[in-house]
Amino acid sequence: MHDFLSRLGQNVAILGTQWGDEGKGKLVDAMSEHFDLICRSTGGANAGHTIVTNGKKYVFHLLPSGLLHSNTIGVVGNGCVVDLVDLVEEIDSLESLGLQVFDRVKISLRAHLLFQYHKAVDAEIENRKGAAKIGTTHRGIGPAYEDKIARIGIRAEDLLDIDLLKEKIATNCKFHAQNLGVICDEVAEFERLMSVREKIKPLLTDTSKYLRDAIGDGKKILFEGAQAHHLDIDHGTYPFVTSSNVSVGGIFTGLGVSPKSLHHIIGIAKAYTTRVGMGPFPTELTDEFGNQLRENGGEYGATTGRPRRCGWFDAVVVKNTVDINGVDSINLTKLDVLSGVKTLKIATQYFLDGQEIFNIPTTKKHSKNLEIKYLEMPGWTASLSGIKQFEDLPKEAQQYVLKIESLIGCKVSSIGVGMDRTDLIFR
Ligand code: GDP
Ligand code: IMO
Ligand code: MG
Repeated sequence: MHDFLSRLGQNVAILGTQWGDEGKGKLVDAMSEHFDLICRSTGGANAGHTIVTNGKKYVFHLLPSGLLHSNTIGVVGNGCVVDLVDLVEEIDSLESLGLQVFDRVKISLRAHLLFQYHKAVDAEIENRKGAAKIGTTHRGIGPAYEDKIARIGIRAEDLLDIDLLKEKIATNCKFHAQNLGVICDEVAEFERLMSVREKIKPLLTDTSKYLRDAIGDGKKILFEGAQAHHLDIDHGTYPFVTSSNVSVGGIFTGLGVSPKSLHHIIGIAKAYTTRVGMGPFPTELTDEFGNQLRENGGEYGATTGRPRRCGWFDAVVVKNTVDINGVDSINLTKLDVLSGVKTLKIATQYFLDGQEIFNIPTTKKHSKNLEIKYLEMPGWTASLSGIKQFEDLPKEAQQYVLKIESLIGCKVSSIGVGMDRTDLIFR
């Protein structure tokens, strides 16, 4: 780990390269011991980042996943959408395990607040879409970002002026109730927020200034991505995406730090592919083998418990992420889940009307006509449990990793061979 870390530089980002749930939380946790600040820049509690250590499982939703290490500070940036009551609950649940967390969290004054009415609007819009629904997490993410972009959002700093806050909540409740007919209880919303105001006030920070100072002081920062490149509002499989820029640019806008402060980008890629919710998934396996992958990999959503759709590794998808984000190295996760698969397949190229294309077509018609070229490789039977060196992996597993590396044009610097934070091979 030390050799690996010494090659990365002061500040490092961790980004999902597929459709989320690649195992970002595990690497963030494993690396956090060596960092001072762990920062979330985008998204909200739609994320579910799982950490397993000493047989115990922790799931982080909005709090940065590095907080299990007592020397770290967690930052929730201005680019996030925050339900403060849920956030306090998340902090309380960690404190109930004996961890001191409250005094290690900073929330941006500019972060947009997420209310119960955003969750109600999310559910209502999904319901109205019927079969065309996105399959959101129902956490109110899209509607909260809609308010932000429409410039009617309520920010964490509004907690400091109670009268104005009350007025803003009332206005937004009326607006959403009229627009969509959802039930918005302005009194309940206000009181719910007031119930955590005193606890939250000391955490409110000008996080952009705080981070700039920390960087100047030589503190080490880990930027924790949520979701993944192919769920990005611009670069993902629109409209089946989340409502923020979760690719690399979101770090800078979502935290107010300079691109020059980032020294290394680690892309997290699962050794196969999963997706929760609707939308195109070219290498999806809808057969019995897909079900087997789901069971072997425990592929059920960490936030909603929904079964994840499973499929082969797609080098076109991951290469697109590497190229657009400037990913420097890859953490390939869950290689252990593939033990026992006789023949492995990797999607290597896409063609549409005989022409090679380099990303997933975004229109339904084109998606249907997509031709996918696969390569096949022999699998391995041995368990990968406990392996610490790349050279100790079965030859076929080594070849699988090297093939992925050459197809995506990026070095695989670490490999996950189990759930625990220590089940990692560094190269
Ligand atoms: P995230 O959202 O990217 O942080 O990923 P999730 O936590 O939603 O899902 C990843 C799941 O895979 C979690 O249950 C992790 O504990 C688990 N996991 C992560 N890395 C590995 C690995 O290398 N092997 C195995 N078997 N499980 C892993
Ligand atoms: P982590 O950080 C997997 C998906 C939802 C849905 C779409 C839009 O754990 O990898 P939203 O609630 O954001 O409006 O839903 O995005 N989605 C995720 N899928 N992992 C996530 O986060 C996700 N966050 C959102 O399933 O398809
Ligand atoms: Mg997840």
